Amino acid sequence: MAVYKNETQTKQFPLVERNSNHYQEIASSALSNSINHLNNAYSQKLSGAEGAVEFRDEGVYTYDNKGRRYLDCLGGYGIFNVGHRHPRVIEAVKMQLDQVCLHSQELINPWSAHLASQLAAITPGDLQYSFFCNSGSEAVEGAIKLARLYTGKTEIISTKNAYHGVSMGALSATGRDVFRKPFAPLLNGFSHVEFGNIEAMEAAINENTAAVILEPIQGEGGINVPSEGYLRKVRQLTEKHGILLILDEVQTGMGRTGRMFACEHESVVPDILCLAKALGGGVMPIGCFMASAKIWKVLEPNPTIHNSTFGGNPLACSAASACIEVLLDEHLPARAALMGNYFMRKLNELKERYPERIFDVRGKGLLIGLEFTSKDLREAVQVELFHRGVIVASTLNSNCTFRIEPPLIITESQINFMIDALESVLIDIGSGRLAEMQALAEEQELIKQDVIAIEPVTVEEVLTVSIVPQATDSDSNLVSDMVIDEFSVAKARQRRRVRAAAKVGSSKVAASRKVGEVRLVPVRESRAKSNSKSNLETTKKKVAKPNKAGKKKAAGKKDKPKSKASYRAKTRN
Ligand SMILES: Cc1ncc(COP(=O)(O)O)c(C=O)c1O
Repeated sequence: MAVYKNETQTKQFPLVERNSNHYQEIASSALSNSINHLNNAYSQKLSGAEGAVEFRDEGVYTYDNKGRRYLDCLGGYGIFNVGHRHPRVIEAVKMQLDQVCLHSQELINPWSAHLASQLAAITPGDLQYSFFCNSGSEAVEGAIKLARLYTGKTEIISTKNAYHGVSMGALSATGRDVFRKPFAPLLNGFSHVEFGNIEAMEAAINENTAAVILEPIQGEGGINVPSEGYLRKVRQLTEKHGILLILDEVQTGMGRTGRMFACEHESVVPDILCLAKALGGGVMPIGCFMASAKIWKVLEPNPTIHNSTFGGNPLACSAASACIEVLLDEHLPARAALMGNYFMRKLNELKERYPERIFDVRGKGLLIGLEFTSKDLREAVQVELFHRGVIVASTLNSNCTFRIEPPLIITESQINFMIDALESVLIDIGSGRLAEMQALAEEQELIKQDVIAIEPVTVEEVLTVSIVPQATDSDSNLVSDMVIDEFSVAKARQRRRVRAAAKVGSSKVAASRKVGEVRLVPVRESRAKSNSKSNLETTKKKVAKPNKAGKKKAAGKKDKPKSKASYRAKTRN
């Protein structure tokens, strides 16, 4: 630690010498620094809970500071198409570091010009010009602006559950309230129609429509593959009405789905194409939007009308050029198709064997969604896979689904490793635990739909807790410090065994030591009264009271055998 003085304060400055111990030192405080200076929620992140700090990566693997190896089936949300640290991309960037890193902004930038010419060569149709930026959101942002500028119209049609990024323009196109609502009002003129429904799209078009924006396959929406012909119909529709088609291939591009661009599966050429993520070869951040010379004309009178200081920087462009060369030389789009088919076949075999656990397998190439019968099951499988050395993650807009999006260089034996790990997890999650999760999912959905309700809890309704399996004397003292969440209380009322949702005490150490599987039972009145309101708080979020019909429905449900379809309907968000 060093001391840093500013005008008003003296603070500790966490100085770490750059020597051979540098990594160990920053790794030792990685979790606490993340919690204290990035976001407190890091304490709940799976890798945080496991103390897994990223150390190095290579090919299809990433390694933590304890030497544990993880098969990367997440691919950094789709950025590692050519694998981690592909030697040709690394070499290109290292060479570039010795020449020019960031550009002067005034002289002609040969690296961005070269990359633009490469992109013009590999993209379909008359896409010819590129604007470079630093992320997918920025690419979408620019595409929306270009569509408005070119057409002189303002309205954009997007789809429900779409994910186009989180900057204000991109967020306006994103189709999920959880991201949008907290930041309202967003841009005017955006509407969202059902993905895959061509009639709904046509109905949304009016004389002020500038463009339709679409992911060829919804990525964050849950890897939703539309029925064959949908994209072609959207293209025909936009042409018929004289509006632009913006394809967001930020996630589907660069070989991911088995073609260099997903639109090629249907021979569709968009008016504007957005790319990012894997474009940087898994080494540098870069995004871009592209269009034909005809559309680009509107940017000519004032080329800086839309601009970016870092966009098109030599380091990022060199990485992207090398990435494209690798994709072509190693035939990675074709490999994605081949390995994707193999992966999906293996996953479908598991689905056949475990229909109560796996609801759906879908995708194209190596963009695969694996949907479970409940959110809790998806979470449990994800955690267990992590313990077995496989990384996956859920999609942002569909919480029962996790994505399988590994580097396109993944081999058959690595896929087999993931499948074996997944099967062992599915076996380990026994039918008792499964039933519990499904009941929980069902109940959560009923609560969400206001079919059943949790009444606010008062101190008089305090519950005792016996910690299973080892309740000690000291545990009973902790009861007075318990914070029981409303869901646990509702469960306790039904005398059902629930996963601990109670935090014991305020200290994290106590919590992590004591929280486990608990059985909650109503306490005797006398016990309840001995606890004061101040040291036994309960969540008192208001939820709708049950109505008679609702109660009936909830009661009726318990007797009925559960169908997979009902799980899905209930647990999808
Ligand atoms: C289809 C799509 N568009 C845009 C974005 C936003 O990209 P970024 O996170 O680089 O801003 C994403 C990110 O997941 C995406 O999947």
